[in-house]
Amino acid sequence: MSQHQVTTMLTCTRSLIWGGLLALLLHIASPTTASPVTPNINLPIAIRDTARAPPSSPEPEPRDYTSSPIFTIPPTIQQDLSRLLSPQSLILLPSSPSFSSYTHRWSSNPLTNSPTYGVIVIPASEPDVSRTIRYANTHGIPFLATTGTHGIPFLATTGTHGTWHGLAQLQGGMAIWTRNLTKMKFAADGKSATLGGGLRGDDVVPALWARGKQTTTGSCRCVSLLGPALGGGHGWLQGQYGLGADQILSARVVLANGTAVRASNTENGDLFWALRGAGHNFGVVTEVEYRLYDAGVRPEWAYQSYTFTQDRLEDVYRVHDEVMRNQSQYVVYWSLWRLVPEVDAVNPILISTVYYNGPPSEAASYFAPFAALNPLNTTPVLTTDYPGLAAAAQFRLTDWACQPKAGATVYGMDVDSYDVPALRQSYNAFRDMMRTEPALSASVAYLEGYSLQAVQAVPYESTAFALRDRNLLYGFLTTYEEQGNKTLDAAAQKWGEKIRDAAYGNVRQKFAYVNYAKGSESQQAMYGYESWRQERLKQLKRKYDPKGRFSFYAPIKA
Ligand SMILES: Cc1cc2nc3c(=O)[nH]c(=O)nc-3n(C[C@H](O)[C@H](O)[C@H](O)COP(=O)(O)OP(=O)(O)OC[C@H]3O[C@@H](n4cnc5c(N)ncnc54)[C@H](O)[C@@H]3O)c2cc1C
Ligand SMILES: *[C@@H]1O[C@H](CO)[C@@H](O)[C@H](O)[C@H]1NC(C)=O
Ligand SMILES: *[C@@H]1O[C@H](CO)[C@@H](O)[C@H](O)[C@H]1NC(C)=O
Ligand SMILES: *[C@@H]1O[C@H](CO)[C@@H](O)[C@H](O)[C@H]1NC(C)=O
Ligand SMILES: *[C@@H]1O[C@H](CO)[C@@H](O)[C@H](O)[C@H]1NC(C)=O
Repeated sequence: MSQHQVTTMLTCTRSLIWGGLLALLLHIASPTTASPVTPNINLPIAIRDTARAPPSSPEPEPRDYTSSPIFTIPPTIQQDLSRLLSPQSLILLPSSPSFSSYTHRWSSNPLTNSPTYGVIVIPASEPDVSRTIRYANTHGIPFLATTGTHGIPFLATTGTHGTWHGLAQLQGGMAIWTRNLTKMKFAADGKSATLGGGLRGDDVVPALWARGKQTTTGSCRCVSLLGPALGGGHGWLQGQYGLGADQILSARVVLANGTAVRASNTENGDLFWALRGAGHNFGVVTEVEYRLYDAGVRPEWAYQSYTFTQDRLEDVYRVHDEVMRNQSQYVVYWSLWRLVPEVDAVNPILISTVYYNGPPSEAASYFAPFAALNPLNTTPVLTTDYPGLAAAAQFRLTDWACQPKAGATVYGMDVDSYDVPALRQSYNAFRDMMRTEPALSASVAYLEGYSLQAVQAVPYESTAFALRDRNLLYGFLTTYEEQGNKTLDAAAQKWGEKIRDAAYGNVRQKFAYVNYAKGSESQQAMYGYESWRQERLKQLKRKYDPKGRFSFYAPIKA
């Protein structure tokens, strides 16, 4: 087909489906309708750096549980643990009928980020977690093991949304399924609640709202409260309240040796520092005291979406870059790329959305610069409340973003500004990926422009989260439906990295939000370039997890 024919066809298609597109976009933006037609809309996400980290001195051999997989699960484990744990706990073996209902992950990619288990433990209390970890540490040493002491490797899972590629290194190990730790206890002054380590966003947001409260949670309802927060925790309200991690007043943690401790500013302060940014490395958090805020102060959100064809990319991100420089704490700017064949069969479209926490009258000036770009489509201004944002952005449990995938990986990164030429390069790679590998055409790019006032009000040194100064979070999500196809998976990884690397442009230091990292990023990219940060994290890792029991997700190599 000639270029001319393609163009004509696209033009035709466009006018034919114009009505359909409008309906589609309205549908996307509608908070009340379910989404039968449009699967993949907004998904928050993001990482990886690689290349240009400053050269570092040779490091000692990493202590890493993933590299010492010699263990066996004792055949008596079910009886052993049943005796040790509370009656409300549950221990499942692969032969148990319900085993598979606890192994599902958001990405069930066996090649990269889906572990396999020989046993699943569902603790009902913190002592259950302690006893489970102690058992795992002291059992599972096979006869005649010569390579030191190896317990059963384990992984705590809560929302099962991690896509880090080290996760699949856990083969035949133990899942500590924390979802039954669902405590929710409100402080008398209404300023905090004790929240169980097993809660998901979808448990927390409506329950708080029913009491007139809200707080920073992940934007997607399906992720856990703590999976995001332990790595920082981005969400709609961060500009007003700070990150998820910033809401944690104290945490109960079961350490690698099974000892349960409390961490706060006054108890185990070093651990408390590490938990807020590098938390997946230090223990299983069974509950946290978490800050709450009155939801009635600004109950309303107004939002509007704008669709552009790819030729407008430069215009669109110039505007994004400009408005970001004077971003209200009440505004979140989102932008995404995806293929909508009804609009353009080969070029993914760009959809930007402005979310404003306040009435439409106040929001109008934030909408105006995008509306002025003369988008292909502009939705009406819609309003909702904090719980309703999940529907507005299509981040409910039933939406595409939350639905399980055969293979999905987030390639995430943090940058300081929209580098327009770099985004063009990145977009072109994204488009080329879909042309070359149609199996990847459901992939989505998320450019997340959260506000930062309250995030940056927290002193930079005071937590392990090292990316407070970064303005923007990008998440390139590659996904496909054919499980276990190595060729396809290799292609997805090649393209994912290419798209992400292009978007970095010429940045001096690459940063990558740990929860959007893929697994090939440098430790500096995720945890900060300052040597004091790296040294402190390594020292704390040696102190709290000397054997590297927490090694399957963004591990700190001590
Ligand atoms: C669809 C989607 C939407 C997302 N939205 C957001 C978002 O809005 N904001 C954001 O910041 N990030 C977001 N992320 C990234 C998210 O932070 C990570 O995927 C995170 O790992 C999810 O945690 P989880 O508990 O759901 O997953 P899991 O895979 O269960 O856990 C991930 C890691 O966290 C550890 N972990 C989980 N619970 C505990 C606990 N109680 N104690 C100790 N360790 C624990 C696990 O051991 C594992 O290492 C999103 C990801 C996806 C796929
Ligand atoms: C989970 O917790 C509830 C309430 O504490 C309890 O009744 C149940 O037995 C627990 N176990 C499982 C596997 O759900
Ligand atoms: C920044 O935004 C505020 C609020 O909309 C506005 O009053 C102010 O003039 C803006 N400043 C600049 C430099 O654009
Ligand atoms: C695996 O994916 C590749 C790339 O999409 C495709 O060409 C190949 O046919 C697939 N293999 C199988 C066995 O389906
Ligand atoms: C477990 O580790 C912590 C942190 O290193 C330590 O303080 C504690 O004494 C250890 N507990 C046991 C029983 O060894």
